Amino acid sequence: MSKVKVRRIGYALGAEITGVDLTKPMDDATFAEVKQAILENQLLCFPRQNVTREQMFEFASRFGVVDDNSSVKHRDPENPYVTMLSSKPFAGKPWEGFKNGENWHTDRSFKVAPTSYTLLSARELPDVGGNTLFANQYMSYDTLTPPLRAFVDGLSAIHLQQRKAAAMMAEQFPAVIHPLAPIHPETKKRALFLGEHVRAFLGMTEEESRPFLDFLSVHAIRPEFCYRHVWSLHDFVMWDNRCLMHMAVKDYDMRPGAQARHLWKCSVQAAVSGKLYEEVVGRRYDLEIAERSGAAVAPPPSIHAAAIRPATLNS
Ligand code: OGA
Ligand code: MN
Repeated sequence: MSKVKVRRIGYALGAEITGVDLTKPMDDATFAEVKQAILENQLLCFPRQNVTREQMFEFASRFGVVDDNSSVKHRDPENPYVTMLSSKPFAGKPWEGFKNGENWHTDRSFKVAPTSYTLLSARELPDVGGNTLFANQYMSYDTLTPPLRAFVDGLSAIHLQQRKAAAMMAEQFPAVIHPLAPIHPETKKRALFLGEHVRAFLGMTEEESRPFLDFLSVHAIRPEFCYRHVWSLHDFVMWDNRCLMHMAVKDYDMRPGAQARHLWKCSVQAAVSGKLYEEVVGRRYDLEIAERSGAAVAPPPSIHAAAIRPATLNS
């Protein structure tokens, strides 16, 4: 009989999973149970797993292609598949303040192949705080009224990496489009796919999109859809970004010299689920918004074009 035990730890999402040892290779039957558990609970916490970075990478690889983090600064020099989420200077690079996931987001939603599973291992923790919040996006989709769900089903969102300088954004991370409520490839259920990188809905301006986006963004994180993870040392937590949003809470002392919060991270790439904006629309999104902000308003159709003379306009 299987030794795997799955115990729900949150109302909205999340389970603790025991009876598995992530420092040892996992047989296929056990892996199948873990896979089933993540699909049913969206987040799993494996307590007391003092893994090495290689073991973490090995386990992550069971779920798909692990991101080599080529665009991430604080990656492990010995294992580029593991990045460091740290509140302390790392590998000679000074701590630059809190940057990782402080707003509600979905990992790498600004890529055509975003992250499916994120895995974190807690290596050092402050005595209090440094929690992570998660919000169940199946629930946020399912609780919309039927007419709104039908509307959402027909929309796509434009995602753009917000943090980098504009020029770099356009080159390295061009805007991408994802359905607003994609069907999860494994559970076949729809979930809202939102987060801080969403700029607008496809075909609509940012101004037109804003009110509905604001509504959805507040709705998506209703407290009853949320689970707050209070970390213990050597917790190994993984979650499914295709149905959860998350954010790192700044509820700990982040001043230099304070207790460190240090986690290792592996990201598994999802299948391509988005499209490059430029390929769909035929123009670059960043250039389009720049142009639009200075564009003249077209005359109403009742004014015949011939009536507007250049001479009149110039005088
Ligand atoms: C991330 C992230 C959460 C945390 O690195 O993508 O969201 O609690 N981290 O550190
Ligand atoms: Mn994140």
